[in-house]
Amino acid sequence: MSVKGKKIVLAVTGSIAAYKTPQLVRLLVKAGAEVQVLMTKAAEQFVTPLSLATVSKRPVLSDVANGDTWNNHVALGLWADAMLVAPCSANTLAKLAHGYCDNIINAVYLSARCPVFIAPAMDEDMWIHPSTRANVKKVREYGNRVIATEYGELASGLVGEGRMAEPENIAVLLSDFFAGNDNKPLKGLKAMVTAGPTYERLDPVRFIGNFSTGRMGIAIAEALAQAGAQVTLVCGPTEQRPANPAINTISIESAREMYEAGMVVGKEADIAVLAAAVADYKPIKQAENKIKKSEGEMSLTLTKTEDLLAALGKIKQPWQTLVGFALETENEIANAQKKLEGKNADMIVLNSLRDEGAGFGHDTNKITLLKRDGSIVPMALQSKKEAAAVIVDHIAELKYAEKTV
Ligand code: CTP
Repeated sequence: MSVKGKKIVLAVTGSIAAYKTPQLVRLLVKAGAEVQVLMTKAAEQFVTPLSLATVSKRPVLSDVANGDTWNNHVALGLWADAMLVAPCSANTLAKLAHGYCDNIINAVYLSARCPVFIAPAMDEDMWIHPSTRANVKKVREYGNRVIATEYGELASGLVGEGRMAEPENIAVLLSDFFAGNDNKPLKGLKAMVTAGPTYERLDPVRFIGNFSTGRMGIAIAEALAQAGAQVTLVCGPTEQRPANPAINTISIESAREMYEAGMVVGKEADIAVLAAAVADYKPIKQAENKIKKSEGEMSLTLTKTEDLLAALGKIKQPWQTLVGFALETENEIANAQKKLEGKNADMIVLNSLRDEGAGFGHDTNKITLLKRDGSIVPMALQSKKEAAAVIVDHIAELKYAEKTV
């Protein structure tokens, strides 16, 4: 950990995630950092100043003035090598975005000359509200680093986006920053990857599925994490799992479940790579009991599933990069081109089943990349890991092009 000897001001605000801050302080202190905790009054309802004072080994400050003592916010702002607002509530985020100075946290923030890291935590509806989106954009524009939220169970009991990043991830991020390792190309960006097959149940014992193993998608998730992105993997039924514990995996079974999770995570993602082999059709209804054999033929009525790639393409924002896959058996380039435009993707990764060593079940893949600028990049047969690294390089290039426009 490269936080050794670093002075960190940790500002804790009113969110349920405040209960995780003693653990965060512990991690930082254990790694050799000096931590000065600041709290809002609202934060004290979620975690006690005594806990934080004990683990930080310093008194916690909650007011600019304390009786006849003035807690010098300017000095604190100059003392710190980094300021971390974690958890940052919607209210504090709004105040930081608009330069309020009504408590010690805002005052230190306005006086700070060090880098400021903001780890938001709120319920999903608040997180996706246009006011919050605008505030996030504003604080980013001021040069602050916004630590991506995570997907999972929320205080409301709902499951969604808006959880504060885990203390371990925040500590690693700060450590990377001080080590000068935060120049990874996708640092600070959020990525979603879909992988694996989907199973569409016919009855309690049968399903319609495909031969996808999820290996290509998982390799992409690993490569994105390696490049510094915070990755959520929406993964269909497969034995394969990413080795990197920082990848947040959501396991799903059907196309419908993939669509539901993928829409929530994908809406927020800077990068979405849809590598899953999703069923295009599902049985119109699932039998409650096992379907029994009978004389003669049997036919199934199928209905279309929702297309996640197309749906994300429809709502794509200028800051988002959307990558799809196309597995084709004929007219490969023309079909992939149609998907690129029809689904409003920025890049399509094409693999042809006519190429030996490409597609499901192999450790290798032979891909061709098609981009919106009309470029077509064919590649030789390579391992899925190598292919994933190349795909991520091209994604970083697309992101870089966006930034310089
Ligand atoms: N996809 C998706 N949701 C679906 C179907 C496809 O998100 N219900 C995504 C895949 O993950 C892939 C891309 O769309 O990134 C293309 O999938 P593919 O099955 O090749 O194309 P389709 O649009 O289904 O077209 P077709 O089956 O006719 O080739």
